[in-house]
Amino acid sequence: MLELKTAAQIEAMRSAGGVLAACHRELRSRIKPGVTTAELDRFAEQFMLDHGTKPEQKGYHGYPFATCASVNDVICHGFPDDRPLEDGDIVTIDMVVNKDGWLADSAWSYQVGSGVSEQAKKLLEVTKAALYLGIRQAVVGNRLGDIGHIIQSFAEAHGYGVVRNFTGHGIGQYMHEEPTVLHFGKPGKGMRLKPGMVLTIEPMLTTGTYETFIDADGWTARTMDGSLCAQYEHTIAITEDGPVILTDQGD
Ligand code: MF3
Ligand code: CO
Repeated sequence: MLELKTAAQIEAMRSAGGVLAACHRELRSRIKPGVTTAELDRFAEQFMLDHGTKPEQKGYHGYPFATCASVNDVICHGFPDDRPLEDGDIVTIDMVVNKDGWLADSAWSYQVGSGVSEQAKKLLEVTKAALYLGIRQAVVGNRLGDIGHIIQSFAEAHGYGVVRNFTGHGIGQYMHEEPTVLHFGKPGKGMRLKPGMVLTIEPMLTTGTYETFIDADGWTARTMDGSLCAQYEHTIAITEDGPVILTDQGD
């Protein structure tokens, strides 16, 4: 179902997005060598509860945690665990916040410590830039393929793989609504963008293949070749005045 949102509904989602962005800012200062992703998950869950919101991912199709924590070759949906993060790791934290029934979704990749390789730093930089290039295409009259195309062509020009098996999505009172937002595609193709659409753009780029496999836990998605993966995700509203980022953390 594709539901266009009213201005008031978009404001409600921006309010959820504000808590989510603040939570990311708090995590950023807590992510360092020695910290575990389970500790970060507990912090994020408590932060959400303390700010009048709920962690929407917990219990979603049986997902057991408030956050997804995806380290190095993990693409997405990694389980927070008790392994201390190491200097030089990269970790993506993905969260969905529910405030009064309205949702916001944002993932962000972080460096752990000061020992991150130049290769990994470049991947982070290009992946974030790909997200913002995609957002810039999210204007009334453009089509979904314009978003996917710019992300794919930019990523591939840098030699990166664009993960196909996980996508962006519409969002509102449900985590996953229509439409599906591919991070690859052809310009001028796909659904036309309309004011009131709220969706996520969340490119996952790898230093190698875009092929994925799922661990025995049934959730953790990794790159087939063990290459690194980064992801940045915002929830955005499409308006007559252009895209509005509802999960903006000022970065
Ligand atoms: N936040 C993720 C997304 O972008 C969904 C996480 S799956 C869950 O769609 F099961 F953990 F919720
Ligand atoms: Co999402």
